[in-house]
Amino acid sequence: MQDKIIEILRSAHGYVSGSEISEKLGVSRQAVWKAINLLKEQGYEFDSVRNKGYRILRAPDCISEMELKRCLNTRIIGKNLVVLDSVGSTNDYLKRLAAEGAPNGTVVTAREQTKGKGRLGRSWQTAKDEGIAFSVLLRPDITPSEVSAITPLAGLAVCRAIREYTALECMIKWPNDIIVGQKKLVGILTEMSAEFDAVQYVIIGIGINVEHTHFPEEIAYKATSLLLETGRHINKNEFLACVLKHIEDEFTADNLELTPGAVSEYTDLCATVGKNITFMRGTRRVSGAAVGITSRGELEAMMSDGTICTINSGEVTVQGIY
Ligand code: BTN
Repeated sequence: MQDKIIEILRSAHGYVSGSEISEKLGVSRQAVWKAINLLKEQGYEFDSVRNKGYRILRAPDCISEMELKRCLNTRIIGKNLVVLDSVGSTNDYLKRLAAEGAPNGTVVTAREQTKGKGRLGRSWQTAKDEGIAFSVLLRPDITPSEVSAITPLAGLAVCRAIREYTALECMIKWPNDIIVGQKKLVGILTEMSAEFDAVQYVIIGIGINVEHTHFPEEIAYKATSLLLETGRHINKNEFLACVLKHIEDEFTADNLELTPGAVSEYTDLCATVGKNITFMRGTRRVSGAAVGITSRGELEAMMSDGTICTINSGEVTVQGIY
């Protein structure tokens, strides 16, 4: 009923009285009043005037199931949506749902993560309503060797969404960070469950720094947020819906390779290509020059002897970035 009340108030031009709402919904005025109070607890603000009724002043600026659903314009991604107040890690939560048979496109998001996970065993902090943390479940019909394209495709989708929604000129640090200038705005952690020759599911976990004004000392030199970069507060539900739309556009193609168009777009948006890099080759840290991206989303580096080395995972340090 709460969503219906919001719909009625949104579509009205002025105030709507409690009795009008109760008539439209076929419930008592007492029930309307209770629902309005529950909405207030979720962060909605109303102007209520005697003899006139209610008008919406503000929707909550935290991630909320009702607002997110209202903004979503997707067919598959987020159709099955779980919005939590607090969770250890959205990736871990979604893994449990996946094991229970959750459908392709299921999304889990939370206002706070208490044990958020980063790549290479690091942690990823999401304090309440500061950032956006969410995970997307995909059940693609691919072999484990094709999974390498997923993180770059997700990076491309998120980079496009940020550019569209904020006009920030963000770039991708291969394979999975979105940066502005030399600082990280987004991290992506892709996890999969696979048997020898078949992928059961893939979980793409994405953390976006939104309202942060400070970061822990050890990452402060290399981290930034949308607020710090744009000076503006964004509507998190609208923005997340925009990101999910771009993810859907990227992942509903039949195969999960980067098309020649996607390789070229990725290369243009990639802050790594064209730079000197260092990376681990076996147990040795080596350097080379990043020269391109393959259709599987791997990074190609030219070594000092002129040979091309294809990198498909691990940490790459880019000269002048981090
Ligand atoms: C990284 O850059 O190291 C990857 C960070 C990924 C963080 C996201 S937040 C949502 C999802 N849930 C997690 O526990 N981690 C990912």
